[in-house]
Amino acid sequence: MAFTFAFYLFTFALLLMWHPANPIRHTLPQTRWPTADEAAQSVLFQPLKINSITLESRTWVPAMVPWRATEDGSVTRANLDWYGRFAEGRPGAIVVEATGVRDVASGPLLRIGHDRYIPGLRELVETVRRASDGHTRLLIQIIDFLAVKRRPERGKFFERFFALTERHRHALADAGRDESWLSKGEMEVRDFLMNAPDQIIESVLDERELESLRQGYRERVTDTHLDYIRDLPRVLPSIFAAAAARAREAGFDGVELHYAHAYTMASFLSARNTRPDTYGGARENRVRLPLEVYRAVRERVGRDYTVGVRFLGDEVIEGGNRIDDAVYFSREFARAGFDYLSISKGGKFEDAKQPKVGHAVYPYTGQSGYECMPTTLSDARGPFARNIPLAAAIKHAVNDDGHRTPVVASGGLATFEQCEEILRRGEADIIGAARQSLADPDWFLKIRSGCGEEIRRCTYTNYCEGLDQSHKQVTCKLWDRVDLDELGVSFSDDGRRRLLAPRWER
Ligand SMILES: Cc1cc2nc3c(=O)[nH]c(=O)nc-3n(C[C@H](O)[C@H](O)[C@H](O)COP(=O)(O)O)c2cc1C
Ligand code: SF4
Repeated sequence: MAFTFAFYLFTFALLLMWHPANPIRHTLPQTRWPTADEAAQSVLFQPLKINSITLESRTWVPAMVPWRATEDGSVTRANLDWYGRFAEGRPGAIVVEATGVRDVASGPLLRIGHDRYIPGLRELVETVRRASDGHTRLLIQIIDFLAVKRRPERGKFFERFFALTERHRHALADAGRDESWLSKGEMEVRDFLMNAPDQIIESVLDERELESLRQGYRERVTDTHLDYIRDLPRVLPSIFAAAAARAREAGFDGVELHYAHAYTMASFLSARNTRPDTYGGARENRVRLPLEVYRAVRERVGRDYTVGVRFLGDEVIEGGNRIDDAVYFSREFARAGFDYLSISKGGKFEDAKQPKVGHAVYPYTGQSGYECMPTTLSDARGPFARNIPLAAAIKHAVNDDGHRTPVVASGGLATFEQCEEILRRGEADIIGAARQSLADPDWFLKIRSGCGEEIRRCTYTNYCEGLDQSHKQVTCKLWDRVDLDELGVSFSDDGRRRLLAPRWER
């Protein structure tokens, strides 16, 4: 039974994920782990100063949503345990999951949109300090996102959500060469559309209406006919600034502004942002709000507080940003005073697969999602270090401008040799490892202590991402069925999986 459930999740994740045509199944690279002395001499384990904080090493756990907050976004015991477990492995820094800057319902994802969240977040900071014995710095990623509705049943869509207009009536009359559609009762038109063939639906509904029917309604930053979307540039700077001030008050070592993937700020940066005001169109317009948000944050938290940014080296969607856009943004960000640049890739809604009825579209199911979290079922390049050319181009550009702003790379970084070479070649300054740290939260510590052979190596098959996709508490297939009878083990809501990696017995 246990196997069946795990297999189901794995299969489910694979089915909903994009893969290159004629994929190759890659094996994990052979590697030699360093001795403790070699590790001590390595660049990876040298300290790095970022603004007023110092990382003990250039090791980094990027943000990962674990689905463990309460429904109203508060920190739970399970959140404390999750971050405490990563802290036991003593990475240089951990970035807490994307945490909502507004005080609006968003399911069991952390929120920082009100002062009532500060005590819980302070406990999180203290937990990480204690568990890492003060060795790990803790940052928090702060995010804004727009509304995404579930894919509706067809009947419900035409009955409730579809706004019937004269344009639709004319399109229907043209399609059927039948003028009577211009005067038929509204219910009759809706009933007809409910059962009409796709060809008719496609000629009557516009692109956005078709998307709402087939994927679920999704707001965009370009929907400037809606007052609150038009006003985003006016309201977001102070909302982000207030959230950052709360992060500082809770004791975090810094904040990371989430300008990556499928969310509001990334959408402003996107080449697909065609807003007609001064916040869309040309690059200098698209970067305007991200810079205004940064300045508002900086003003609230002060010059000495660490403020970083995560953004995309490539959006991987048609008509989206490429590396030359990312280089332009990174130079602007470094010049403005961001303390670090964390580079991700893809993870967009635009190419996501159609969700099942009743489910929301998930931005990691298309090619851009694949590039965000590549798997071992890959093309000839494989999933390892795929994003490094993007990070390197960005690092070289900001360094050429005279800025020392550290660049965090991530994406399939999972051996000491590979990480060390990236740092030595000057392609990045910090090594981020999300899934490898989930597979083995002690992996950096094991390398540092010369125990690399004991590392539980991530297989990059994205069972964890499948759980994220189905909004289940995130665990790793390599350990969530192991030693279930161990004293004090905490279980997932379905009672089948342990929530934390087993302790490393040295
Ligand atoms: C379960 C899960 C949740 C994630 N949540 C976030 C998130 O909240 N914010 C973010 O910027 N990236 C998120 N990511 C992306 C990772 O930070 C990272 O960029 C990606 O997994 C590639 O790095 P890796 O190959 O080291 O895993 C998530 C990844 C996973 C697997
Ligand atoms: S962290 Fe675990 S579940 Fe996720 S890809 Fe790696 S091995 Fe698979």
